[in-house]
Amino acid sequence: MSSLLAAHGGPATIDIPGPHYQWPAITADLEQAVLQQTRRSLSDRDASGILGEFERAFAAFVGAPYAVSFATGTAAIHAMSRVAGLRPGDAIIAPAYTFLATATPFAFEGVTVRFADADAYGNLTADTIAAQLRPDVRAVIVTHMWGNPCDMPAIAAFCREHDLLLFEDCSHAHFAARNGQHVGSLADMAVYSTNQKAITTGEGGVLTMREQKYHDLALLFGHYNKRCQHEIPPEADYYPFAFTGMGLKHRMHPLAAAIGVQQLHRAGEIEQRRRTILERVTDRLAGNPVITTATVPADTGQHGLYVIGLRFQPGNATVNRGEFVKLCLAEGAHEVDVPGSTHDISTEPLFARTDPHAPYQPIAARATDLPGVRDFQDTFIKIPIWGYPGDEEVVDGYLATLTKVSTAVAA
Ligand SMILES: Cc1ncc(COP(=O)(O)O)c(C=O)c1O
Repeated sequence: MSSLLAAHGGPATIDIPGPHYQWPAITADLEQAVLQQTRRSLSDRDASGILGEFERAFAAFVGAPYAVSFATGTAAIHAMSRVAGLRPGDAIIAPAYTFLATATPFAFEGVTVRFADADAYGNLTADTIAAQLRPDVRAVIVTHMWGNPCDMPAIAAFCREHDLLLFEDCSHAHFAARNGQHVGSLADMAVYSTNQKAITTGEGGVLTMREQKYHDLALLFGHYNKRCQHEIPPEADYYPFAFTGMGLKHRMHPLAAAIGVQQLHRAGEIEQRRRTILERVTDRLAGNPVITTATVPADTGQHGLYVIGLRFQPGNATVNRGEFVKLCLAEGAHEVDVPGSTHDISTEPLFARTDPHAPYQPIAARATDLPGVRDFQDTFIKIPIWGYPGDEEVVDGYLATLTKVSTAVAA
């Protein structure tokens, strides 16, 4: 292989037509699952069909007592806010570095969002949460960024000590565990977006919880009428709301649930393939001074297998991160990416507004200083984790690209 970079006139490392990553793998059994569901039902008003099958399979997969499906992960996070009874005047501590929907539904509700700093994996810690504690804080939400599990035992202990509700955004962390426990298990509620994530339904989200009351209130939030009437105990004091719910409908589409059930049947295989790729990339990049994998050590936690996170080491390179990525793209590695939508959201005007019912408010963004977030987001790069039959050539091409470009730009 030529060591002359493609950007400097050398041959491209990867000559494979795109796209280089598509998820899920469209296998014959996935096609069958969707086709069969079209014949069974395209609209389910209760959980007697595919929605119930999906929720039971998902709850078993993550080890949760209850799971409620939603049309999107964002809707499931919105449900969290209302199920917990958060209201204007309350505050929640959330990561500044996360996908926007971890925090936006709380802002929609007029709940104040206090943004906390990140550690070397982009995650909140008990200390960064403690730094934002004020008398109005009632809850904490953490995101297991890019698949790396937060230190949940420490964070849960902090929340218990300060009588705070604990929510987990496990959207990047479907396969993650910390201290042998699946993520989500220490929280009052956990959310899993199933949009293009490790277990996908195309679009969708799942809320899991330990308490039946939270399950029932989540149904009232997004699943009015028949489903509430079938599942909420008639003696519950909120049962009179079963017919109307609380005003909204957020049901998952049956075809999405059918995809989810098929993906959950294959969860063992998905995990095994993705873990193998993660290990291969980690092994191959060991000792690379320019680019390192951002994965918690195996004795601390198990990675959630959403994407592979990398850290660019500017002090060891003759180019900056943007130039490094451009050089990789020129080699044909189109999926080497600096995330566009996931960055410090703390300065967004949505979080500064004071009237949750105004369509919008012309309002200045707030300035924040979160050095951990800045450091993480300024050096982060991601690549897919692949994990489907036939992906070996692409994975090898990306590894060759990262090695070639790193060697060329090493200081
Ligand atoms: C961390 C995180 N939380 C929440 C969401 C929102 O989920 P959805 O797109 O299913 O609404 C996403 C989506 O990518 C996400 O990455």
